Amino acid sequence: MYPPSTHLLFGTEPDQYTFVWPGQTVFGAGSAERLSAWMQHSGSRKPLVVSDAGLVAAGLVEPHLARLRDAGLVPCLFDGVEANPTLDNVAQALDLWHSQACDGVVALGGGSVIDVCKVLLARLCSDAPVEQVLREGDALLCRPIPPFAAIPTTAGTGSESTTAALVKDAQGRKHVLRSRACRPQWVALDPLLTLSVPPAVTACTGFDTVMHALGAATNRATNPVGEALALQAMVLSFHALPLVIAQPDALQARSDMLLASYLAGVAMSLRGTDGIHGLCTPLESLVDVPHAHVLAVVCVPLMRFTLPAATSPYARVARACGLSAKPADDAACAAELVEAIDHLRRAARLPCTLAELGVKADRLEAVIGIALGSPSVALNARKPTRDDLVSLYRAMQPA
Ligand SMILES: [Fe+2]
Repeated sequence: MYPPSTHLLFGTEPDQYTFVWPGQTVFGAGSAERLSAWMQHSGSRKPLVVSDAGLVAAGLVEPHLARLRDAGLVPCLFDGVEANPTLDNVAQALDLWHSQACDGVVALGGGSVIDVCKVLLARLCSDAPVEQVLREGDALLCRPIPPFAAIPTTAGTGSESTTAALVKDAQGRKHVLRSRACRPQWVALDPLLTLSVPPAVTACTGFDTVMHALGAATNRATNPVGEALALQAMVLSFHALPLVIAQPDALQARSDMLLASYLAGVAMSLRGTDGIHGLCTPLESLVDVPHAHVLAVVCVPLMRFTLPAATSPYARVARACGLSAKPADDAACAAELVEAIDHLRRAARLPCTLAELGVKADRLEAVIGIALGSPSVALNARKPTRDDLVSLYRAMQPA
C-alpha cells in the first residue's frame, strides 16, 4: 500500500519531483491472451469482468471469458458500464462483486470501463462515504487492493496508466478520483483489440492522447522522467493518428497509438497536463459531447496564447515530431507545432468552434470562474488572467 499521497501537484520547483510507476504491462499483438495466467498468479479464482454491452455484442468479451474458464477460473460478467460512467454503474458492479463473492477485477474496455473499476476498488477498500473517497483517494483506503487487470480496447484515454478516474453522480456532476493504489496492477496493451474501433471513436480517443502528451511535455512541471515519456508519446501519436484514421486495420499504427496512450497516461500522472484540459473541463459540464470535441475547440487558441512563454518546449516537441523547417529558429518551430495541431484536428474531422458544440456566449462567465481555479490551468506554461480567459473563450467563437 502506498503512503497517503502528498505530491500529486507534480512540482514546479527545480529538483522537486517524484516518480511512481504503475504495475506490470505486457505489450504486443496477442498479449491479452496472457490474462488468465496473471489472474491465476495473483490468486484470483472468481474475477469480476467489467465491460460494456457494445463490446459484448461485438463478440469481443466472450473469448476472454472462455480462456478464463479454460484456466479453471469462474469469471462473473458485469457489462453495464455507460459511455459516461456513473456512480450507479459502480454500485451495480459492487452488488455483483458481493453477491458472487468475487476476488479480483478485470477491466475489459475503454476508459469508462477502467474508470468504473478504479472507483469500485476504492469503494471496496474503504469504509468512508463514496463522496469522501472520491475527494481524498488513497488516504482513505484501509484494506489491500484485490488483483486488478486491465485490457484497454481503445487508444486512448490512458486510464490504464493514469491515477485519475472520472464518474458522474445522479445529478450529472463529474467527480475525479485520484489514486495511485487503484491503478491496474497488470495491463495488456494488445493492438489486435483496437482494430475494429469505429473511425469517429478512433479520432476522438486518439486526439485525446495527443493532447495528453502535448500537455505533459510542455507544461511548467519539472519532472524530467514524465517529460521523456510525454515526448515519446507525442512523436508516436502525432504520426500514427492520421494513419489509423485513414487506414483502420494498420496494425503498426494501432500499436503505436496504444503505446502512446499508455505512455501519455504515465507522463500525465507524473507531470499533470496543461491549460487545454484545464479550460476544457468546465465546458464539459455545459454540453454532453465527446471529450475530444471540446479539446479540439480549446487547443489552438490556448496554444497561440501560450506560445510566447512556451517557445522552447513547443520547439522541442516540434523537432521531435519532425516539424523543423528552420532547425535553428525556436520561434518558427514552435509556431509550426501550433499549425500542425490545427491541421491535425481538422484532419480528424473534429469541431473548431464553441458554436459547433452548442455553447452560448452567456454561459461563459461561470466557466471562467471554474477555469481560474483549475490546477491544470495553473500548470500551463503561461498562466491566464480573468481577462485573458474572456479573450480566449471569445476566440473559440461561441454561439
Ligand atoms: Fe483527456
